[in-house]
Amino acid sequence: MSVTVVLGLAWGDEGKGRVCDALANDARYVARYSGGNNAGHTVRVGDEEFKLHLIPSGMVREGVICTIGNGVVVDPEVLAREVRELEERGLDARNRLKVDGRAHLILPYHIRLDSSREKALGDSSIGTTKCGIGPAYEDKVARVGVRVQDIFNEKILRAKLEGALREKNSIFTNVYHEEPFEVDGLAERLLSFKELLGPMVTDTGAMLREALDRGERVLMEGAQATLLDNDFGTYPFVTSSNPSVGGVCVGAGVPPNRLENVVGVTKAYTTRVGDGAFPTELHDGVAETIRDAGNEYGTTTGRARRVGWLDLPAIKYTASLNGVTHLAVTLLDVLSAVEEVKVCVGYEVRGAPVEGYPMYQDALEDAKPIYEMFAGWGEDITGSKTREDLPGAAREFVEFLEKEIGVPVCMVSVGPERDQAIFEWTHSAIEEFSEA
Ligand code: GDP
Ligand code: IMO
Ligand code: MG
Repeated sequence: MSVTVVLGLAWGDEGKGRVCDALANDARYVARYSGGNNAGHTVRVGDEEFKLHLIPSGMVREGVICTIGNGVVVDPEVLAREVRELEERGLDARNRLKVDGRAHLILPYHIRLDSSREKALGDSSIGTTKCGIGPAYEDKVARVGVRVQDIFNEKILRAKLEGALREKNSIFTNVYHEEPFEVDGLAERLLSFKELLGPMVTDTGAMLREALDRGERVLMEGAQATLLDNDFGTYPFVTSSNPSVGGVCVGAGVPPNRLENVVGVTKAYTTRVGDGAFPTELHDGVAETIRDAGNEYGTTTGRARRVGWLDLPAIKYTASLNGVTHLAVTLLDVLSAVEEVKVCVGYEVRGAPVEGYPMYQDALEDAKPIYEMFAGWGEDITGSKTREDLPGAAREFVEFLEKEIGVPVCMVSVGPERDQAIFEWTHSAIEEFSEA
């Protein structure tokens, strides 16, 4: 048995949570491999809405074991809160969650540094979620990070905190004129998580590899998305991890030859929270219409999302980079609200057409989209259960994407509810699709 990866093809919030929730239907494990609680993944089951930030969406499916991989940065306060909130809603989160001992911790000084830096950047700020993600990954790479396992060895914990704070406190006091952090208070607080974390801490990579050897299904839940990837995204307006497919192997501890299906998730249009180039962004009434119809406000920060048309050069680039084998197209119902649908099929940069997705930051900032127009369908499609149920114009739109991107669409979502989607988009359906 192999791994199915679900990842975002744009700037996040594509609906990865709900796609994972559906595929978790016949998976045994759901794993996070990158990012932290900067993610906000929504799963709607009947009247209930779950917003997961750190714990994989698989938690909403009974019996699924969820893992937080070594490549994730873990804020223990968020972890404890999320476990508690899910348990209050009847899910046995504590028993079905495993956290890798190699994962790095997000600590209060990372969160403060994230905010202080963003403030200092003023107009050039990245628009981060201020969860401390960047500073935590920096410490990991700089080899001054504190790991989940350090909570279980007070001596190592204190030594690492002292090492990390030596430079940090000097930055807080001298650069930002803020209070320094004390090792004692931090250590005490971290040690208090021992009881909760004790039964959860595992070598999650080894656990997943053994599960694969036993023939069990593993689902990788991408967070953030490919255009926010630290290497391949719209740098510097990106996150500090690798949400793209390469991040799976290093962030979850599974070898590349185990990855079989890569489901790339894209909205039927595009959104972005935070700053940075967005060639197809809309600033008119259509943006308002789409934002209202799609309820485009951030799951993590509540910020109004920037809205624009689907950007094919971007999606072709990210689909190719990730070796996407299947597409999931989400929020198609939202486009019922507009009269005409546009898709960007290429760019012009300073008057000349360009091939593909620009590598240069200034070219992307100057890119003017070339659009292809589609007739709107203007009717409610939220009850569609098969492709044939869709109005002709909506079906043509989906088929156009399939043809242009060159991979089959294995799922189209037409509403936020678990069952508001077209196709049997379980693993078995994907496998049948792949064999056809
Ligand atoms: P993620 O971060 O990729 O998991 O996506 P988010 O949960 O942040 O954002 C997706 C939003 O769209 C959530 O509010 C979902 O409930 C909602 N959503 C997902 N699929 C659909 C859909 O097909 N139609 C509509 N109208 N909303 C959807
Ligand atoms: P999900 O998993 C959308 C964006 C932030 C900012 C940039 C860097 O729900 O799709 P960070 O806090 O990571 O240092 O911020 O990345 N960002 C997201 N945007 N969805 C997300 O996650 C995001 N996670 C980070 O808005 O622009
Ligand atoms: Mg989200």
